[in-house]
Amino acid sequence: RGTGGTDFYELTERAAEVEVLPGLRTPIQGYGGTFPGPTIQARSGRRTAVKLINQLGEPTVLHLHGGHTPPESDGFPTDLVAPGASREYVFPLEQRAATLWYHDHTMDYTGPRVWRGLAGMFVVRDAEEEALPLPSGERDVPLLICDRSFAADGTLLYPALGGRPGVREAYMGGVLGDVILVNGAPWPELRVANARYRLRLCNASNARVYELATGGPMVRVGGDGGLLAAPRTVERLRLAPGERADVVIDFSAYRVGQRVELRNLAGEGAQGRVMRFAIDRPERDDSAVPPRLSAVEPLDPSRAKVTRDFAFTSGSMHGGVGWLINGRPFDSERMEARPRLGDIEVWRLTSDVAHPVHVHLDHFQVLSVNGERPSGPPEWKDTVELRDAQTVEIVTRFTDYRGRYVLHCHNLEHEDMAMMAAFEVV
Ligand code: C2O
Ligand code: CU
Ligand code: CU
Repeated sequence: RGTGGTDFYELTERAAEVEVLPGLRTPIQGYGGTFPGPTIQARSGRRTAVKLINQLGEPTVLHLHGGHTPPESDGFPTDLVAPGASREYVFPLEQRAATLWYHDHTMDYTGPRVWRGLAGMFVVRDAEEEALPLPSGERDVPLLICDRSFAADGTLLYPALGGRPGVREAYMGGVLGDVILVNGAPWPELRVANARYRLRLCNASNARVYELATGGPMVRVGGDGGLLAAPRTVERLRLAPGERADVVIDFSAYRVGQRVELRNLAGEGAQGRVMRFAIDRPERDDSAVPPRLSAVEPLDPSRAKVTRDFAFTSGSMHGGVGWLINGRPFDSERMEARPRLGDIEVWRLTSDVAHPVHVHLDHFQVLSVNGERPSGPPEWKDTVELRDAQTVEIVTRFTDYRGRYVLHCHNLEHEDMAMMAAFEVV
């Protein structure tokens, strides 16, 4: 923490054509004209200033997902940057090292904007993490995972834009694609040494939930809010839209010449293929996964000043059906809650059908899922998957900044259909 100073970046939102499927041109709207946008490397305690230049024909907003950000730079959904205009977002990054991501957050249009390319990764590092022997450098790989659908000519298909029968239904549940992309490429192959790698997995999909597996062990070392207290070996990794997981895979368990496939076991259809690792060389490996990673201070719910309820359900809105929080659609002027700066609060989130719930400003810890404590020590999260008819209690503390923020469903179509609420830290 506290190295001071500022790093400057420029992100120009513009239309471009890229090759995603072999031999076809895909029109996108991307940061810097790429999909995904550039991975931003940042340091805890050092400001990152991002100048957003909007060269698209429509207003946009930038949000740093997982960022502990003052309200004027958090990308409130109505805080728009007009076409042809630019704006500087300042991220103080007074927060732990973590795998974050940035994306468009325009009210009513986040789904199609992200689908067409406005998303990228943002890695925050700190001294605590660098003192650990975890794989680093070439062996620390950000992987942005999302699904997309394409027309035969390579154009991205987004159902709300087509207006064919069944579109409303496809849109209601959230838009799913039939091709999984990793860093913008379908079923890519990464050449690796027979050594440990740290993979920073980010589910940037509009609506798809993944269960990722290689057929061998993966060691999860981090989540949305940075390092876990201790590593956890898993065979499968579930990631809802918006969630991240840092895992270490030890490719020395395989022979040079072998391939390891990362697959998605959730959902139906041909969407199982995610990516491949080709072990193509021996290499010396000094990395390790230590048994203790970090100190994660448990937030004490008995110190909570307030308990609030947020019900995520469908309901009628504007004469049709929409997605609502506490029975109301998003209204940027109405504050659903006014937590006090410095207070600990417990939020009780309930669902009708599954919703990945994301809270801006401060990370939280999950206290219970349907009344049961989650296994293992607490971890910091910013997005939690509510499955069908669940109650999830989270505890959080409002720190550093007063002002307006949002919480919302990170199924981006649900978010666009108004499953979002504003709160103001006072
Ligand atoms: Cu990833 Cu409010 O968003
Ligand atoms: Cu966010
Ligand atoms: Cu939802």
